[in-house]
Amino acid sequence: MYKDVTITINGEEYQEHIPVRLLLVDFIRDVAGLTGTHVGCTYEGVCGACTIQIDSEAVKSCLMLAVQADGHEVATVEGLAQDGKLHPLQEEFNEHHALQCGYCTPGILMNAEEFLKENPDPSEDEIREALIGNLCRCTGYVNIVTAIKSAAEKMA
Ligand code: FES
Ligand code: FES
Repeated sequence: MYKDVTITINGEEYQEHIPVRLLLVDFIRDVAGLTGTHVGCTYEGVCGACTIQIDSEAVKSCLMLAVQADGHEVATVEGLAQDGKLHPLQEEFNEHHALQCGYCTPGILMNAEEFLKENPDPSEDEIREALIGNLCRCTGYVNIVTAIKSAAEKMA
């Protein structure tokens, strides 16, 4: 079964005829061609690598069907930088060496971006709690937490 959908991703509208069982993460990667959103746990909703935002709310895109995003605004990591300038979170991840392989990074950035809008002055514990749904196998999280705290200070 197929359905026509219109999904806006990073301000660009995608009008497509898609299978109703297509996952949103596969729409983003395979239909829109935006491969910054990753799949890390074979669609089990565990790793958070596929985290994007829908209408400014962070969600795991492997746990949603693309048809559920019909008529909504999706934001992915490709839309974080504006006018050629990195988002403060991206700058601070770079500054504090908050990634190694980088596989988890797009999902963490999209989660952290929403988190800092809700909590612009977070404690370290609050940042760690916010990251509970994003697994990183490389960094040990210390530099990620430092980078998010530093980005919050920069954005204040
Ligand atoms: S791919 Fe792991 S939570 Fe979505
Ligand atoms: S930097 Fe490798 S999984 Fe996080």
